[in-house]
Amino acid sequence: MTDFCFDIKPLFPEAIIKVSSDLLPQNFSGKRFMCADVTLKMAEVIDRMGQLSATAQDLINPVTTAQRLEKSDNQTVYLMADGKEGANGVVVGLLKVGTKDLYLYDETGQVHKVQRAPAVLDFYVHESRQRCGLGKELFEAMLAEEKWTPSKLSVDRPSQKLILFMARHYGLVRTIPQANHFVLYEGYFHGVSPSMPLLQATKSVPAILAAGSERQRTSAMTFHVGEANYRKRRLQDPQQQSCSTTDLLSSRCNSDCSMAEIIQGSRARGTNASHAADGQISRTNVRHT
Ligand SMILES: CC(C)(COP(=O)(O)OP(=O)(O)OC[C@H]1O[C@@H](n2cnc3c(N)ncnc32)[C@H](O)[C@@H]1OP(=O)(O)O)[C@@H](O)C(=O)NCCC(=O)NCCS
Repeated sequence: MTDFCFDIKPLFPEAIIKVSSDLLPQNFSGKRFMCADVTLKMAEVIDRMGQLSATAQDLINPVTTAQRLEKSDNQTVYLMADGKEGANGVVVGLLKVGTKDLYLYDETGQVHKVQRAPAVLDFYVHESRQRCGLGKELFEAMLAEEKWTPSKLSVDRPSQKLILFMARHYGLVRTIPQANHFVLYEGYFHGVSPSMPLLQATKSVPAILAAGSERQRTSAMTFHVGEANYRKRRLQDPQQQSCSTTDLLSSRCNSDCSMAEIIQGSRARGTNASHAADGQISRTNVRHT
């Protein structure tokens, strides 16, 4: 359980709180002099939960840190606590979401530039509390607050547990393969008219996408140990990084990605038999969200 040397209850007026770049709980009503103390403690909570999430996912670096949240203007962290556990209460879950500008394939193989796409960036429930419904509770709170629907979310490098979570609670199984590390579910483009397609994919791409979608469906239905190895393996290969639009604009990506490479990436993915064997859904990457 994630406990701290301070009482977490003043940070959690409710079991689930929403924290943005000011590192204060939403609607924080404390006196001004209390803010510094609260933000320091909140930073400690976020850093610790971010680190636990990274460890649970075999990531080298945490996706969520207080410093990163402070610098972002489009990311939000939801935290869940159990104030009744121990003297100081414990923090049991973290969910980070945000918006991203992404190049995304639709079901027909056309590429769209989607601005401010809602994205799930990090998600963690303490090991001692997993599979008790807390993840769902946290996720539902986020959906209600952001006014998002599950099928319209892009998910950054979902772990096998998250793939199973999305299937179990939202019936989301079939995915639309992407050339970047985000996973979209079928229905993502339904009922909306995204930006004009940027590129018409070549004739062979829909077939590749269909094959990839089937692979991902299989991977969603079967939990296998390959996932853990896959996540470690891809993290050990920093050369193979892919980029989102945001990454490109902010030059955070080591490699240069063009639209041609995005298409190329899809082809390579579609023809790489080892991906099928591992149930891989995205290109090798190191998380840098
Ligand atoms: C993904 C995660 C946040 C879900 O939280 P949770 O509190 O366990 O979720 P819920 O209890 O609401 O839902 C449970 C469902 O999630 C999936 N799931 C969660 N843990 C699982 C596990 N160890 N093995 C298989 N499926 C699991 C299952 O579909 C499960 O339903 P089931 O118990 O009926 O099979 C949590 O498992 C976790 O922190 N995992 C480690 C970190 C991680 O992989 N994060 C995803 C980042 S991409």
